[in-house]
Amino acid sequence: MTEPINVVVTGAAGQIAYSLLYQLAVGSVFGPEQPINLRLLDIELMMNVLQGVVMELEDLALPLLREILPTADPAVAFKDADAAFLVGAMPRKQGMERKDLLAANVNIFKDQGEALDKFARKDVKVLVVGNPANTNALICSHYAPSIPKENFTAMTRLDQNRAQALVASHLGVQVDQVKNVIIWGNHSSTQYPDVTHATVNLSKTGKGVISVPEAVKDNEWLNGEFVSAIQKRGAAVIAARKMSSAMSAAKAAGDHMRDWFNGTKDGQWVSMGVVSDGSYGIPKDIVFSFPVTIKNKKFSIVQGLEISDFSRSKLNITAEELGEECKEARQVLKP
Ligand code: NAI
Repeated sequence: MTEPINVVVTGAAGQIAYSLLYQLAVGSVFGPEQPINLRLLDIELMMNVLQGVVMELEDLALPLLREILPTADPAVAFKDADAAFLVGAMPRKQGMERKDLLAANVNIFKDQGEALDKFARKDVKVLVVGNPANTNALICSHYAPSIPKENFTAMTRLDQNRAQALVASHLGVQVDQVKNVIIWGNHSSTQYPDVTHATVNLSKTGKGVISVPEAVKDNEWLNGEFVSAIQKRGAAVIAARKMSSAMSAAKAAGDHMRDWFNGTKDGQWVSMGVVSDGSYGIPKDIVFSFPVTIKNKKFSIVQGLEISDFSRSKLNITAEELGEECKEARQVLKP
């Protein structure tokens, strides 16, 4: 009998969690043999709503789902956590300055970092989804010094999935025929979706596996419209739905954690916001999205990819933004 693992979801009464929780309970993230205990954290004000989510989880009648614990107390939620999806964050309200938003979130992720440090397992895997995700992950890791910084990541998988889907539809191929699209940098409109090293399987047309730029044959589109469509995709969904991406964000969070636990396939990489080790000349100690491979629950940044002058300029822009966010976050944290 496999022992259940403890999985925390914060912002558990919110939109993304509503889609994510089913994936966790049905076994599509940790596998069909892995039972889970769910720890659901939200703020006091949302406890009634959360109770409704708990009722629905019970009504799923799924055998992998063992305990369900709703709480507003981080100490309870993070106790012995094996995996944590940090989804809950303060949303931007009308008239709110970026600095105010950052300040509210820095404090949430400081508290949660401290609780992880005290109560979670030292090998806990933390995925930050709540925005600004990269900087929130950095803050969280900073306040959890007893947990290795490699255990804190930020989500850019939704951006990767969007980029892969757009390239596939542009080429008229099934989405899984496109591989190794990269998201560099911040989960924001400065991110750089890069297909320079991506491949597409065109076996059906007799061309075999070729590079995406070779298949698309339109660098102007790849460096212009494509990049900007991915950078602005989140805003386009908000404009249409009047709410931010939730189903696709939850799917991406599941993809990210599943690959972290189970590893990536040979020859394939995925993008994750991780604490920079200086690879590709990116300043150390910002959480920057890199292509990674994963084995035995440990990721390695893919090394040796050629970076063109165009790509370099894009990497610099997004790294600069992260440096600024970091500086602002530190100012908020000053006593
Ligand atoms: P939502 O507003 O529906 O839910 C957020 C939940 O977080 C609410 O229930 C709220 O009460 C809770 N919350 C607030 N402060 C909390 C705290 N201190 N502890 C625990 N829970 C807390 O928002 P939604 O749509 O679920 O999005 C959540 C976050 O994910 C947002 O910050 C959003 O910008 C971000 N996001 C990130 C994406 C990414 O690709 N990294 C993609 C889409 C959304």
